[in-house]
Amino acid sequence: MRTTVALTGASGFIGGVIAQCLRHGGWHVRGLSRSPRQAQKLEDLGITPVQGQLENPASLLTLVKDSVGVIHCAGAIRGVSPQDFYPTNVMGVSNIIQACLAQSPLPRFVLLSSLAAREPSLSPYAWSKYEGESVLAREAGSLKWSIFRPPAVYGPQDRALLPLFTMLRKGIGVQLGPSQAKFSLIHVEDLANAILHWLQNGDPLSQTFEIDDGFPGGYSWEDVFRLSNPHLRLRLRIPPSLLQIAGKSNEIFSRIFGYTPLFTSGKVAELLHPNWVCNSSRATQKLGWRPQISLKEGLRRLFTSDRLMPSHWE
Ligand SMILES: NC(=O)c1ccc[n+]([C@@H]2O[C@H](COP(=O)([O-])OP(=O)(O)OC[C@H]3O[C@@H](n4cnc5c(N)ncnc54)[C@H](OP(=O)(O)O)[C@@H]3O)[C@@H](O)[C@H]2O)c1
Repeated sequence: MRTTVALTGASGFIGGVIAQCLRHGGWHVRGLSRSPRQAQKLEDLGITPVQGQLENPASLLTLVKDSVGVIHCAGAIRGVSPQDFYPTNVMGVSNIIQACLAQSPLPRFVLLSSLAAREPSLSPYAWSKYEGESVLAREAGSLKWSIFRPPAVYGPQDRALLPLFTMLRKGIGVQLGPSQAKFSLIHVEDLANAILHWLQNGDPLSQTFEIDDGFPGGYSWEDVFRLSNPHLRLRLRIPPSLLQIAGKSNEIFSRIFGYTPLFTSGKVAELLHPNWVCNSSRATQKLGWRPQISLKEGLRRLFTSDRLMPSHWE
């Protein structure tokens, strides 16, 4: 039986945890890596590195060769304009699909998209994730595929939500969206486990799965504060206008100082959106997967481990 799984984004926050989860689930993981330093890191973690990138079709052919499944987790999450996201999140999807279609037998394919794809008009990032999904639907041919749309993902090595949770731990709650907003969350280990379930499920599943941690109806900011730290010393609600100024200013600084920003006006538009709630019932029904990690437990793990690998996988 073929046991090789090809993974893109293995050097990133989510891909790193997926790689370890699959490896501990008995799969041989081959991971795409853009630099020799990352390749060495993957090798040290028991993952077979393939040097290359999404823009290099030959490296993608080597990556997916003889694999039973391809998990496409690489993605651009920083940028200001559609051009910043298009090459990776749209063309990259097309390139890896073409590499998969050149295989016989065909591997099964997962695209790690985002709940943001539900609202493509909000930001260039959201648009690019939506377009990536559309490319998959258009070009897949006889490839069996699934799309996973996680909401905000947190866990060790995450840099986007960590500052917020660190402040909460210190007793300071910073509210970055409207009080009436509701959103889902998922711990990265639960997400990785869903991918493992998908691989173990023999059925071709050409459909989209939204997945979350099972908190009914989604979180409000108030819920996050209450569950993270019931003894807050200070609550700060950042007004939308200030968030917009901060996003715009960061874009200007990024041009001056030459970095690719995460916090932009597009990200602010996503933060101000009132409904990022999803539910996992389809994934539970079709994959037999259930989220295991509540926000409380996820935060406990976050602050008792700063390592890449969750302790129970070691
Ligand atoms: N974090 C979240 O809350 C969240 C929520 C929903 C969906 N997602 C999706 O999950 C995926 C992973 O996100 P993440 O948070 O783990 O991001 P991350 O830590 O920035 O990881 C991104 C990964 O993609 C790789 N990559 C980027 N451009 C590439 C290219 N052109 N060729 C090959 N590899 C490339 C990076 O490689 P290098 O190490 O070489 O840079 C890295 O391994 C993305 O598709 C994102 O849209 C994330």
